[in-house]
Amino acid sequence: MARVSFQTLPGTRDLLPPASDRMRALVQAFAAEAEQAGFGQIVPPMFEDLGVFTRLGEATDVVKKELYAFEDMGGRKQALRPEFTASVCRAYAQHRPLTPWKTWYAGPAFRQEKPQKGRYRQFDQVGAEVIGSHDPDLDVELIALAWRFYQRVGLTNITLLLNTLGDKAERPAYLAALQDHFNANLDSLSEKSRETLAINPLRVLDSKRPPDQPLIEAAPKILDFLSEDAAKAFERVKAGLDTLGVAYEVAPRLVRGLDYYTRTTFEFVGSGLDAAQNAVGGGGRYDGLVADLGGPDEPGVGFALGVDRTLLALDAEDAFPAADCQPQVFLVCTTGGFEAMVASDELRRAGLRVDRSFDHRSMKAQMKAANRSNAQVAVIIGPDEAENGTVSIRPLDDRPQFSTGRSEMTEKVKEQFLS
Ligand code: HAM
Repeated sequence: MARVSFQTLPGTRDLLPPASDRMRALVQAFAAEAEQAGFGQIVPPMFEDLGVFTRLGEATDVVKKELYAFEDMGGRKQALRPEFTASVCRAYAQHRPLTPWKTWYAGPAFRQEKPQKGRYRQFDQVGAEVIGSHDPDLDVELIALAWRFYQRVGLTNITLLLNTLGDKAERPAYLAALQDHFNANLDSLSEKSRETLAINPLRVLDSKRPPDQPLIEAAPKILDFLSEDAAKAFERVKAGLDTLGVAYEVAPRLVRGLDYYTRTTFEFVGSGLDAAQNAVGGGGRYDGLVADLGGPDEPGVGFALGVDRTLLALDAEDAFPAADCQPQVFLVCTTGGFEAMVASDELRRAGLRVDRSFDHRSMKAQMKAANRSNAQVAVIIGPDEAENGTVSIRPLDDRPQFSTGRSEMTEKVKEQFLS
């Protein structure tokens, strides 16, 4: 019979050390930043009732083309999460925690996209959401949280694009104006954008196709259609960002790929990335989504950052090197007894990262493994050491090897890391 061999599916990857260490360190940096700002972690399930996600917008690519939807054995329709915001709103509606409810998350999301660099079918997001307050100062707090996180990990080539989409009440007048504008110039619009126009004129503004650009440039701006309230909130957001020294560009044509947005929307764009995948993160207000999911009419605001794209952007800046998770100490033991097991256990309990050889390999082979492990110190226990109650400590640089009593091993090894 032919041997079978499997590979990861398109758009999915194995992350091995040091890439996996680096990703975990990035998530930890985000957790630290979010918890400093009073956010608690939510861990929602990775799949939900299909209806939770169709609320993201029946006409969006995410719902129309990209959902991993399936039925369980009982015929219940469900889907892998393409993002977290809908799950957070569903969780709010289900548990009704006190407001404002500030929560952060990290984990994989799934979209059946055409895979390419920075665009995967399973990708990781970190993000934060607040349910239950209309205060635009929360919009500022969230944007600042993302911004401070980028600073913490050393990402600098990044632009914050800021817009408002106004309230749902203002939307019809703006959509009608957009429709009139594009209809009057239909011949100059690309065929794809003409199709989009029929479904959602707002999304035509998102077209990156060169022939569409002059028309998009000349399109009516939402800022001219805002209610007094929405305009005031937008002013407050901008003034708050100015006060904190967070730089932004107002981008009146910024529309996001999901339908739930109202008022403030924003995107972080990395300048070191290809245009098609340069959004490292984005978010905004979604006043109405909680109610759409069967909860009370509570507003929400939040963002999600693409972990994979943030790491690519950091690569482009040579920033955020992988955390050092390699062993510090390597145990070399040729007695055939339990010495290596006991000594490595003791050193680990003392807080050191320790690895060792298995399979009763020769001293030479074990020393080779010690050198390959990148440990700084080898602890050697041969038959002589075992008999005399000693160990040999060999720094794996140019410092000399020495012998010490077995009972002093941990203390002496720790001393090696003090200099
Ligand atoms: P989104 O813009 O769809 O928003 O995704 C946020 C980020 O996730 C993107 O900026 C990008 O970095 C990353 N991302 C999205 N799709 C992929 C992919 N296929 N491969 C790699 N990275 C990807 C949301 O998901 C909203 N839930 C954000 C939000 C939270 N709005 C309000 N609260």
